[in-house]
Amino acid sequence: MTYWQFKMHKNSKKYFKWILVTGLLLIVLYYVTPWATSGVDIRMIHDDPMQKLHTRILGGLISDYPDIAYKIKEDAARRLAQNTCVCLAGEETFHLPFVKLLFPQVWAQNFLHEFLETHPNPEGIKQQRAQEYNNYQRRSYSPADVLIVAEANSPLQYPTQGLEVQPLKTILIPGLGLKEEARLNHIVSLRATMGTFDVVATVDKVSIKGEGEKHMTLSGPLLSALNRQLQFVSYTNTVFHPKTADSIEFATEGHQSFFIIKVGHRNAPRLYNSGYNGEYNISALVTIATKTFIRYDKLKDLIESIRQYYPTVTIVIADDNEHPQPVTGPHIEHYIMPFGKGWFAGRNLAVSQVTTKYVLWVDDDFVFSANTRLDKMVDILEKTTLDLVGGAVREVTGYTATYRHTISVENGGEEGDCLHIRLGYHHVIEGFPNCVVADAVINFFMARTDKVQQVGFDPRMSRQGHLEFFLDALGSLHIGSCSDIIVNHASKIHLPWSKSSSMKSYEKFRYSSTDVNNNLKNELFYFKNRLKCMTSQ
Ligand SMILES: *[C@@H]1O[C@H](CO)[C@@H](O)[C@H](O)[C@H]1NC(C)=O
Repeated sequence: MTYWQFKMHKNSKKYFKWILVTGLLLIVLYYVTPWATSGVDIRMIHDDPMQKLHTRILGGLISDYPDIAYKIKEDAARRLAQNTCVCLAGEETFHLPFVKLLFPQVWAQNFLHEFLETHPNPEGIKQQRAQEYNNYQRRSYSPADVLIVAEANSPLQYPTQGLEVQPLKTILIPGLGLKEEARLNHIVSLRATMGTFDVVATVDKVSIKGEGEKHMTLSGPLLSALNRQLQFVSYTNTVFHPKTADSIEFATEGHQSFFIIKVGHRNAPRLYNSGYNGEYNISALVTIATKTFIRYDKLKDLIESIRQYYPTVTIVIADDNEHPQPVTGPHIEHYIMPFGKGWFAGRNLAVSQVTTKYVLWVDDDFVFSANTRLDKMVDILEKTTLDLVGGAVREVTGYTATYRHTISVENGGEEGDCLHIRLGYHHVIEGFPNCVVADAVINFFMARTDKVQQVGFDPRMSRQGHLEFFLDALGSLHIGSCSDIIVNHASKIHLPWSKSSSMKSYEKFRYSSTDVNNNLKNELFYFKNRLKCMTSQ
């Protein structure tokens, strides 16, 4: 007898009474509450009858005209993703070091080799990943994403997009109509899966069946009366789900159409009051965040340089030193973390404490100069749809880097997808000639605080990590980079992410076992991001 069974036995009388009372209450509630007519299925969708129908119709469209010949245009056809991506390294043509700097080579990494084959249970982890991915897809499925084709010559008139209803609320469906030749009886029907139809007014000579139900039919001998009646059709959502859509079938004899009503709450805005009065008040708009480890002398130089230009901007410091030293001063928040919590954990902590609209990320060995114009970053974030804008870092040698990259993920089927990272950017931003749109930028960036908090920095990235954040941000952050907003780099090392730099030895100092970290990185790429391989530049 388990502990629980034992307790049950001992208290069974008490439990029985309790169950009886709750049961009675539930029955009463069931009859008193008008909407509790049936349970709500909020399981992830496996099998959507509407989707099947759409797929069947679409399949029919593609297989039409089988006797008309066609010729495939290879170069254009190759661009279509077919779950067959590969990761190929670039060919090494020259061996001179400066050539490598000018034309950085593309290198490739295969997680199936580097992670999966070294894993003690590759089949198990493979299946786990597949299952998590399956669940993720089901969770993020929305009928609003399903392709809808309006077939030619349909007599039906209906809205294709732009309808939205809040959970369990009612809207009018605008734009419904039937255009056909006069006949004895005109008939249309509406069918929903997550709500019911009704009419808010009735019209003579139109008969209505199924008011307040998921399937409503309207018919009558007079087409104009029927069309008038269609103007009064309302839809009430009956199944609550904060972000989904109902796929509505609108049909008449011989014709069927589908349209979508989105169901969901309004997104709650997150606004910051920064007392804007025509001029950007940087102290009210921006918080500077950094993470420090070992280098207190560098941190001190950074703070001093910031104070020269921005005396009242708040600076948030995350510190995971073994023996933390006090860092004090006005407008400084110093957060001590457990020893060696790591790079991304520190970024996460620092960013979580920011209360201003924007957060500026800097490394602890950067130094502000007259070119570190935060107002320019604020300006572009205020005037464009960008969520994050990177600047440039000037090395001691005078070399200035913006570290712009594009990221793309190609479909690779069951084994996982392929990640491709390349130097470069997508577009120049109009009105800001020194700024471009990219997918990843340098360690010196300003961003909308709420957006960065949404993406977060995966605290498992304890050693180096930079691109990993931008990979997580892909698809949700709009990212830019400006070459004329410059911060200086104090250390006589190269770029902090470059593998050959002395940063590596600094990082090595932190974590003696780099193999463990590499393996963790591979695991995150393989499992979390569901990749099989990557190429990078
Ligand atoms: C700028 O913002 C800071 C912090 O909110 C505030 O103390 C200061 O008075 C503001 N300055 C101006 C000129 O509004």
